[in-house]
Amino acid sequence: MIVAEGLEKRFGERVAVAGLSLDVRAGEVFGLLGPNGAGKTTTVRMLTALIAPTAGRATVAGCRIGEDDDGVRQRVGVLTETPGLYARLTAAENLRFFGKLHGVDDLEARIGRYLALLGLGDRKDDKAGSFSKGMRQKLAIARALLHEPQVVFLDEPTSGLDPTAARVVRDFVAELRADGRAIVLCTHNLDEAERLCDRIAIVQRTILRMGTPAELRRALAGARLVVTLRAPSAAAREAASALLGPASVSGDGPEIAVVTEDPEGIAPDVVRAVVLAGGEVVRVEAARPSLEAVYFDLVGADGAREGAA
Ligand SMILES: Nc1ncnc2c1ncn2[C@@H]1O[C@H](COP(=O)(O)OP(=O)(O)O)[C@@H](O)[C@H]1O
Ligand SMILES: [Mg+2]
Repeated sequence: MIVAEGLEKRFGERVAVAGLSLDVRAGEVFGLLGPNGAGKTTTVRMLTALIAPTAGRATVAGCRIGEDDDGVRQRVGVLTETPGLYARLTAAENLRFFGKLHGVDDLEARIGRYLALLGLGDRKDDKAGSFSKGMRQKLAIARALLHEPQVVFLDEPTSGLDPTAARVVRDFVAELRADGRAIVLCTHNLDEAERLCDRIAIVQRTILRMGTPAELRRALAGARLVVTLRAPSAAAREAASALLGPASVSGDGPEIAVVTEDPEGIAPDVVRAVVLAGGEVVRVEAARPSLEAVYFDLVGADGAREGAA
């Protein structure tokens, strides 16, 4: 649905995006995760034919960027960071205006359907200007979807929303995926990326790393198996050391921690050895580095080489 190769955008001297290549499939939620200024919005604006790349190429829903920009715009839906809605028009009027621009068939039925899907059915005749931030965001999402685009870009869709409104938006993203669309989700929210995205690209001007959330976590060493006993047991600890080598076994008191690539794989053997040595197991955990750890490993704890261009 989206193929980009070597995309680059310079603003004068500043390189906002460089050497960005990706491939997003139908039915996939693809996350662009990165700190402020990482180039996420710039990437979305290139892929929706709002600004022209300074190098590289991309095809979106079968249309080449720079060659068939109208085709791209017809086939994508985009929720921008600052969705401009007409405050003096009602929710339904906002959608009607946009729908006519896009030549949407069966417009009234679709307006009703999308407002209802986003929980705005009973507010359709209220002015957008009277809406809360969350309601405006939902209306902007309805607008991005009204022409039923194959590719949907959501730029920070939950930022500034309260947890309830954010949840409605997240649940909705999950439904869109089930619908077989390609969704690109920009976020700086790690938890959101991990929960919603099938694959994530950690970006800072270019893609630093890309993979499923699990792959990204595995890429960082430091997975562990932690076996917790009712009470410390030297015999149990020795049994684990005999099995795995003393260097990999650590932990204090009742905890026996083993550094391993494959916590689940070794768990049965470790538990058996510990139990045979008289250890009373109360908990077994496979601990992996969090996506947060991976993110900080890549972009640095201050999140910012921002403006370093
Ligand atoms: N129109 C523009 N003119 C000049 N610089 C820009 C423009 N748009 C974005 N930038 C710069 O490009 C970089 C990436 O910005 P942006 O894509 O908005 O990042 P993100 O969405 O990841 O926060 C930033 O350094 C930003 O200041
Ligand atoms: Mg942005």
